[in-house]
Amino acid sequence: MSVSAAIHRKIQLCGYGRSLDNTERMGVEQYRDYLCQLHQVVRASIPLMELAVQRCDASHPVESQLIAYLTEHIEEERGHAELLVRDLEAAGMPEAQLLLRVPDAAIAELVGAQYYWITHYSPLALLGYISFLEGRPPTEQAIAFWQTATGLPDAAFHSLRLHSEADPGHWQALDDFLDTLDLSAAEVELIGLSAMQSAQRAGAAWSGLVQRWSH
Ligand SMILES: [Fe+2]
Ligand SMILES: [Fe+2]
Repeated sequence: MSVSAAIHRKIQLCGYGRSLDNTERMGVEQYRDYLCQLHQVVRASIPLMELAVQRCDASHPVESQLIAYLTEHIEEERGHAELLVRDLEAAGMPEAQLLLRVPDAAIAELVGAQYYWITHYSPLALLGYISFLEGRPPTEQAIAFWQTATGLPDAAFHSLRLHSEADPGHWQALDDFLDTLDLSAAEVELIGLSAMQSAQRAGAAWSGLVQRWSH
């Protein structure tokens, strides 16, 4: 089995999904909660990748390839946090209010774990996190659901749209990259662990939202 297929399988075992079954109370307020949570994750994307680049050893063959991959991916993700800010503004939430929100502990665990792996073990861990995030873009059905539930204009959906279009390509590029690397067994284990941990903590963060919406 290829490395990318093994990672997909591990992520799948975690059973992550953003269920929208709890439709009774869904509306603008819930959509804002969702975008705020996305922003709490996405605003850390470029800083995490920059940190990983800094921690790479350019003389290590795999890590030098990681530098090249991340340098390119940083450009692909540039502006995405700001896009969420604009979507939220179109949904009636100013940036100051967004930044005041205390992130769920599950978000700090999701993103924070990467700071640990990168700083105290290996920047390769970030590939598991990216694989999880790029592999779960919003579906067309989910976007249609939110549009109907909120009645908001298209201007509030740029971020979901962009990710539903761009992330499948980002995911494929990452898979291709993973499968060209000459990884040790420990590195494959690390990337898989990071992916599974990401799926679990993101699942907990989504459950936190659903719980908030059902009260
Ligand atoms: Fe993005
Ligand atoms: Fe992406």
